[in-house]
Amino acid sequence: MPECRYEIIPFDSRHQSWAAELHQETMDEPWSQASFEETLQHPGAWGFVALSTNDNNSRALGFIIGRTITKEAEVLTIVTHPDHQNQGVGRALMNQAMNGCLATGVHAFFLEVSMVNDSALHLYQSLGFEMVGERPNYYRKKKLGAHKAFILRKKV
Ligand SMILES: CC(C)(COP(=O)(O)OP(=O)(O)OC[C@H]1O[C@@H](n2cnc3c(N)ncnc32)[C@H](O)[C@@H]1OP(=O)(O)O)[C@@H](O)C(=O)NCCC(=O)NCCS
Repeated sequence: MPECRYEIIPFDSRHQSWAAELHQETMDEPWSQASFEETLQHPGAWGFVALSTNDNNSRALGFIIGRTITKEAEVLTIVTHPDHQNQGVGRALMNQAMNGCLATGVHAFFLEVSMVNDSALHLYQSLGFEMVGERPNYYRKKKLGAHKAFILRKKV
């Protein structure tokens, strides 16, 4: 596979329909386009998109959306297109989001992740997130049924 080159830019309304399609493809409980629109209207909401720079039509490879409330930021959703996973896109999106939040005075990041999501858990733990809680039966998957979410935090 050729090296995947990309740039990270702010998420805006042009990306909502594509993001909803990608959610539909990858998530058990996908957001609608209206959910993206509504979430991004909240004060403190932020988002970034990874755009391929390998070709001329700037394909979107992944995105992250979160929100900041006072000095704490929460990652609400992060997805890399299945064709581009394990190429550093998720890590780059997380780093961009965390650096952006740090510049606004954030001192802690939170997120929720399924206990069976090995790649996401690996990524977050390698970025310095630690488990601070659990939510039993938080996720439902067709094959696995209900299972817990871990609540992760990174202090800076
Ligand atoms: C989680 C997700 C966003 C990560 O995006 P990505 O672009 O693949 O992330 P990266 O390539 O930057 O990093 C993935 C890391 O997981 C590792 N990994 C992949 N599969 C793994 C597995 N089964 N077990 C452990 N680690 C794994 C990779 O080696 C890589 O780590 P490294 O950088 O130390 O080599 C992506 O897998 C995804 O979109 N999943 C579906 C949606 C989802 O689950 N979102 C998260 C909800 S909390």
